[in-house]
Amino acid sequence: MDAIRTAVLAEAPDEELAALELPESFRGAVVRADEQEMFAGLASEDKDPRKSVHIDDVALPELAPDEAYVAVMASAINFNTVWTSIFEPLPTFGFLQRLGRESVWAKRHDLPYHVMGSDASGVVLRAGSAVRNWKPGDRVTVHCNYVDDQDPSAHDDAMLAVNQRIWGFESNFGGLAEIAVVKANQLMPKPAHLTWEEAACNALCNSTSYRMIVSPNGSQMTQGQTVLVWGASGGIGAYAVQYVRNGGGTPVGVVSSPERAALLHDMGVEHVIDRKAEGYRFWKDDDTQDPGEWRRFGKKIRELAGADPDIVFEHPGRSTMGASVFVCRRGGMIITCAATSGFTIEYDNRYLWMMLKTLKGCHFANYREAWEANRLLCEAKVHPTLSTVLPLDQTGEAASLVHRNAVEGKVGVLALAPEEGLGVTDPELRERHLDEITLFRRHGR
Ligand SMILES: NC(=O)c1ccc[n+]([C@@H]2O[C@H](COP(=O)([O-])OP(=O)(O)OC[C@H]3O[C@@H](n4cnc5c(N)ncnc54)[C@H](OP(=O)(O)O)[C@@H]3O)[C@@H](O)[C@H]2O)c1
Repeated sequence: MDAIRTAVLAEAPDEELAALELPESFRGAVVRADEQEMFAGLASEDKDPRKSVHIDDVALPELAPDEAYVAVMASAINFNTVWTSIFEPLPTFGFLQRLGRESVWAKRHDLPYHVMGSDASGVVLRAGSAVRNWKPGDRVTVHCNYVDDQDPSAHDDAMLAVNQRIWGFESNFGGLAEIAVVKANQLMPKPAHLTWEEAACNALCNSTSYRMIVSPNGSQMTQGQTVLVWGASGGIGAYAVQYVRNGGGTPVGVVSSPERAALLHDMGVEHVIDRKAEGYRFWKDDDTQDPGEWRRFGKKIRELAGADPDIVFEHPGRSTMGASVFVCRRGGMIITCAATSGFTIEYDNRYLWMMLKTLKGCHFANYREAWEANRLLCEAKVHPTLSTVLPLDQTGEAASLVHRNAVEGKVGVLALAPEEGLGVTDPELRERHLDEITLFRRHGR
C-alpha cells in the first residue's frame, strides 16, 4: 500500500500507476455482522459508533468488468455512516445479503463485515475490461448512486430503478478505506482546486441538495422564492443554502446555536432562526403537537423574510414535519429526504390539501444530477463545507461527532493522504476562492 500512496503523492505517470502491484488486502472501516446486536435495547443516542466501527484488514475483491479500484486519498462521514454504525433502522447486513443474491459479481458483497462509506476522492488504480471513460491515474471523486444499468427501470431517472442502492451503505467496499471498489458510472472528475479531503466530502450531500433544490426531479426552485432550510449549517443544509442563493432564492436557515447562526451569516444568509434560542416546542409531549408553536414559528419566518416559504427543505422528520407542513406557503412544496428524529411522521393534513401544498419525497441523485453538482464544485460555484478532519483510524470518533450533532458541515476522513492540504492542482482557482472554501474549517474545531 505504501508504494501506491507514494506513487499517487508523487503524481506518477498513468502507466506507472497501472503497473503497480495490487495488495491482497487493504485497511477499511468496518462494522461486523457478529456485533450487530451489540446495542440492543439502548436508546439511539446511547449507541456509540466508537464501539462498533473497527479498522480491519480486508481482502481485495476481484474486479468486475464495469468497475474500478480507487486508491482512496480521503473520504467523509455521512449520516448513513452513523446509521450503519449504530445498526439503525436495520443492520446493513440484510442489504448485503439481498444484493448478494442478484448475480455472481454481487455475491462478493455478502460478507460478515461491511466496509462503509459513501464518499471518496482518489486515483483510479485499475479499470475493468468494460470501462471506457476512465483509466489508471485519473483523479476522481465518487458519487454513491449504485445502479444496475442492465435493468430497464434504471433508464428514465436512475433513482427510480427498482434495485437502486447507496454505495457503501447498501453495498460493500465503500469509501472509508484505503481502496474502494466502484462502478465506472459512479466516477466524476476531482475538482482540481480542492485538497483530497475537501474534494471527498461533497458528492453525497451536494448531489442530494442539488436534486432537492435545483432539479426538475426535486423542487426546481425559481428566482425569488423563499426556502426554509432545516439544519442549514449541517451536511445537506449547507449545500441547500448555497443552491438557494445561487439560484436567486431567499434562504431562511434554521440552526441551533449562535455560532451556527454566525456561520450562516458568513455564508451570506441574511435570515437565520436559532431554534434553541427561540425555544420552539412543536411537541407538547410524545403524542401531541402544539399548533400554537407552529404559528409562532411561521410568524418568525414572515417577520424575517416577509413571506411564507415556497419550499421547505425537510429532513429532521418527526420533530419538525408538523411545523413544516403548516408554515409552507399555499401551493408550496415540502421536499423531504430523511427523518433523522423519527420516521413516523404526523402532520395536520388539512393544511396540506386545503392549501394545495405538495409533500414530495426525494432521494440522492442520478448520475446526471451528481455530475452537474460536481461540475459546479469544479467551477467553484459551490464550495465544500468541510469543518473537521480525522484519520481513518478515528472513523468511529468521526461518526460519533456527526451522531451527536457536534459539528457543522462535513467531517472528512484521511485514508491514504498522510496529511491535510494535499492534492491541489489548480492553485490559482483555489486562491481566488480560499475564503469560501475554508469557511467551515475556520468555524470548526
Ligand atoms: N435521502 C438522501 O439521499 C439523503 C442524503 C443525505 C442525507 N440524508 C439524511 O438527511 C439527514 C440529514 O443529513 P445531514 O448530512 O445533513 O446530517 P447532519 O450533518 O447531522 O445535519 C443535520 C442537521 O439537522 C439539524 N437537526 C438535527 N436534528 C434536528 C431536529 N430534531 N430538529 C431540527 N433540526 C434538527 C441539525 O442542525 P441544528 O441543530 O443546527 O438545527 C443538524 O446540523 C440524515 O437523516 C441523513 O441520513 C438523506
